[in-house]
Amino acid sequence: MDSIKNKVVWITGASSGIGEALAFEFAKEGAKLILSARRIDELQRVKTSLNLTEENCLVLPLDLANTSRIDELTNKVIAKFGRIDMLVNNGGFSQRSLVKDTSIDIDRKIMEVNFFGTVALTKSVLPFLLQQKSGNIIVISSISGKFGFYFRSAYSASKHALHGFFESLRMEIYNDNIKVLIVCPGKIHTNISVNAITSDGGKHNKMDESTEQGTSAGECAKQIIKAIKTDNEEIFIGGNELRAVWIKRFFPKLFSRLIRKQKQE
Ligand SMILES: NC(=O)c1ccc[n+]([C@@H]2O[C@H](COP(=O)([O-])OP(=O)(O)OC[C@H]3O[C@@H](n4cnc5c(N)ncnc54)[C@H](OP(=O)(O)O)[C@@H]3O)[C@@H](O)[C@H]2O)c1
Repeated sequence: MDSIKNKVVWITGASSGIGEALAFEFAKEGAKLILSARRIDELQRVKTSLNLTEENCLVLPLDLANTSRIDELTNKVIAKFGRIDMLVNNGGFSQRSLVKDTSIDIDRKIMEVNFFGTVALTKSVLPFLLQQKSGNIIVISSISGKFGFYFRSAYSASKHALHGFFESLRMEIYNDNIKVLIVCPGKIHTNISVNAITSDGGKHNKMDESTEQGTSAGECAKQIIKAIKTDNEEIFIGGNELRAVWIKRFFPKLFSRLIRKQKQE
């Protein structure tokens, strides 16, 4: 892809962290943006900071846990912009609870947002991409989509599930000129651990040390834009933590020993 200028880009989870940084980078490239998440005041704040005109930006509140209204939202985007060029499935949340303490209801809540919400929105947008015979679907997975870790059983499961779904979709729509990019961030400095769900359904409310020391959201967004422009299918973003992915692939037993010794947070 040569240019993102004038492309209509729908970003979920645009109210903070990686989604907000992506909104900034896409705006810099001259894209027209649809900003979605639950917190409308935060979305308005992001919109104001981007300096986009009313014509080029739509704030569209969306709760990925409630997919019943999703087609209605997609129709609003089409009514305003006439098309959708890129869907950035970024909205989601993490977990900090042991399996033995976590009810199935919490597991379902995580899957509902991170997996089913993302799938429902993608299915709602897909007919328009197919009709256009062009488009990009970007999915923000995680290195937790490549291996499990302490306190993240359902979160990791939800991210693994995204890989199965979107790798299949990528094959099915290849001949329709629709690209699927799966992004696997490692540690990115956002509020992900603060907003993570605990066993009682509350917020973890703690900034993990490794997250605090992670790659900036701005750098993460820049690498995602570069990957879209170079037609990448899967990318990893982060620092030393990414080594775990390659160790698991080539030395699974060594990986198992090493990963158990990592700080549990
Ligand atoms: N930071 C990392 O280290 C890291 C690493 C790997 C992957 N990721 C992934 O990156 C994505 C963005 O996370 P982040 O790091 O930027 O954390 P963040 O700052 O907590 O942002 C999460 C975003 O998702 C939105 N969101 C949460 N639940 C939602 C729901 N039910 N419906 C709609 N939107 C919802 C939030 O907005 P509202 O609260 O306003 O709804 C927020 O905009 C997530 O998918 C996360 O799994 C992050």
